[in-house]
Amino acid sequence: MNNILSRRKWLQTSLSLAGGTALAGALPLVSSPVTCLATPRELAQKEGGMLLLGSNENPYGPSPKAREAMMEAVQRGNRYANVQPLVADIAAFRGVAPENVIMGAGSAEILGLAALAFAKPQTEVVAAKPTFFVLPDVAKRLGANVVEISVDADLQHDLAKMVSAVSSKTSVVYLCNPNNPTGTKLESAQIRAFCEEMSKKAVVVVDEVYHDFITDASMIPLATQNPNVIVVRSFSKVYGLAGMRVGYGIAHADTIKKLQALQAWSGNAISQVSMAAARASLKDQDFVRMSLEKIAEGREIVAAYCKSEGIFTVPSFANIIYFALDKFPASKVQGGFAKQMESHKIIIREGLVGERSFCRVSMGTPEEMRQFVNVLKTLKA
Ligand SMILES: Cc1ncc(COP(=O)(O)O)c(C=O)c1O
Repeated sequence: MNNILSRRKWLQTSLSLAGGTALAGALPLVSSPVTCLATPRELAQKEGGMLLLGSNENPYGPSPKAREAMMEAVQRGNRYANVQPLVADIAAFRGVAPENVIMGAGSAEILGLAALAFAKPQTEVVAAKPTFFVLPDVAKRLGANVVEISVDADLQHDLAKMVSAVSSKTSVVYLCNPNNPTGTKLESAQIRAFCEEMSKKAVVVVDEVYHDFITDASMIPLATQNPNVIVVRSFSKVYGLAGMRVGYGIAHADTIKKLQALQAWSGNAISQVSMAAARASLKDQDFVRMSLEKIAEGREIVAAYCKSEGIFTVPSFANIIYFALDKFPASKVQGGFAKQMESHKIIIREGLVGERSFCRVSMGTPEEMRQFVNVLKTLKA
């Protein structure tokens, strides 16, 4: 009891010293995920800031257990954080060996390492369009040629066209499932067959950063067996730790070694505070369940509005919705819709499928999504 009290006092003092007196008052009870510390978003809103629906973050994160662990870890900030305890936790959680795991400052670091390791100059990288930019972008910067295969009319990966695009020149195939920005997912059996076939010719990177939003089979078991398949995962999405930068790759032990060989300091890739946050988050599955429920609720609010207004969209399996902007006059100028939203203090992303403009909106709280829909109503033709 004394221990708990003194820790609580320490946390309050730390927050007060950091200018967070109001927050310190809110801290002592971390029983409910939504009533502990204010999130950066809540703080921004209190200060008249923007509604942040542009980066696919979790509005509820970090989890209460993660917040507490982070505050405690501050005390160890003078010590290097060997990643092994987190690697062991992840390995146990995912049912793989520690040798199959590489930690990174976000999954983006792992995607970058995969490009560095395999996307050599003059080779080709096959990816969908649109999809998450990091791996194709790094590959381009390394001198590889990125072959972009447009998603189909249902905003789904066109696997048949991707297969045809793979040749002897292909070094890497990137598959994001569920896909950012479209929110679409492929069947596990389809992905598995695709990976098995394509990995005979190239390294297949399966980006499962949004996989926590679905219950389908992961490609992790395949990746541990097949040296040409790499899976990437993240604590940035459902675990609500985007700003802490914790991601990881899972692959065959030999492939992990190749990626680690290109990493500046793989044993210390993330900070004490980030490591504490990730370890505690894994143990806070109640927070994950709450987040999944609330995010689904938000998605339903936007999807129902699109349906009622005949706005083209497809079912999303991530914390995003991608919908067509045909009915929004501001989108006639590229970026015009995003600017208009910004004038209403809402940040979203605008993108293209062919010539057609789309809005990618990340799920905030249900209340925020109602606010978003109310603004949409005023902007529609
Ligand atoms: C599909 C996908 N992969 C990877 C990332 C990078 O995430 P992080 O580096 O925060 O783990 C993102 C970020 O939005 C993403 O959408």
